[in-house]
Amino acid sequence: MSIIKACIFDLDGVIVDTAVYHYKAWRLLANELGFDFSEQDNEKLKGVSRVRSLELILQWGGVTKTKAEQDELASKKNAWYVGMISHMTPAEILPGAKEFVETCRQAGLKIALGSASKNSGMILEKVGITYLFDAVIDGNKVSKAKPDPEVFLKGAQALHVAPAECVVFEDAIAGIEAAINGGMRSVGIGSPEVLGKANLVVSGLNEMSLEKLNAL
Ligand code: G6P
Ligand code: MG
Repeated sequence: MSIIKACIFDLDGVIVDTAVYHYKAWRLLANELGFDFSEQDNEKLKGVSRVRSLELILQWGGVTKTKAEQDELASKKNAWYVGMISHMTPAEILPGAKEFVETCRQAGLKIALGSASKNSGMILEKVGITYLFDAVIDGNKVSKAKPDPEVFLKGAQALHVAPAECVVFEDAIAGIEAAINGGMRSVGIGSPEVLGKANLVVSGLNEMSLEKLNAL
C-alpha cells in the first residue's frame, strides 16, 4: 500500500452527532402521518440520502405517496432539521474530532469532507470548523449514494491525490463499502460488529493517532 497523503471524513456520526436531529425530524414527520419508528430502525437511515430515507420510512409505516407528495414531505422534514441544526454550537463536535483533524493537518495530510448531506456546509459553519477542510464534497455535489464511491473519489480528485493514498473515516457500513469500492483504506467509527469490513474500527476519533493511521 502506498503512503497516506489524505484523510476524507464523513460528517454525521464522525465529526458531529447530527443523527439525533435527523431522527427527531423524521419522527415528527412519521407521527404526523400516523405512525412511529424505533431507534433501531433509525440506524438503517445512517449514511442514507434524504430521498431514500423517506422511502424507507414510508415503507415502515405502510404509507404510499406520489412523487410530488414525497418531495413535499422531504422538504418539510428538511425545514425542521435545518431549524434544529441552526442552533448547533462547537460544543456538539464529537470528542477528539477537531483535535485529530488538526493533528493530520499539522502532519501535512490533505483533508476533505465526504458526506451525503446537503446541509454539510451549514453544519461546518455552525460548529466553526470549515477552515479545517481543503475540500468539501457533499450531497450537493454527488449524484450516486454510498456505497457508490463517487463522493470519496471526488474528494480525492479535489485534493489531487490517488484513491490508494486516501483513508476514509465513516460510521455507516455503506460508507465503508464506498471506501472499499473506491480503492481506499477505511477506519470505522462505531462497533466492530457493524463495521468489520474496515481496516480498523475505533469508537471515536478521540481513539485515533498518527501511529494508528500510518499502520493501516
Ligand atoms: C448523512 C446522514 C443521513 C442523511 C443524509 C442526507 O448521510 O447520515 O442520515 O439522510 O446525510 O442529509 P441531508 O442533510 O441532505 O438531508
Ligand atoms: Mg455518517
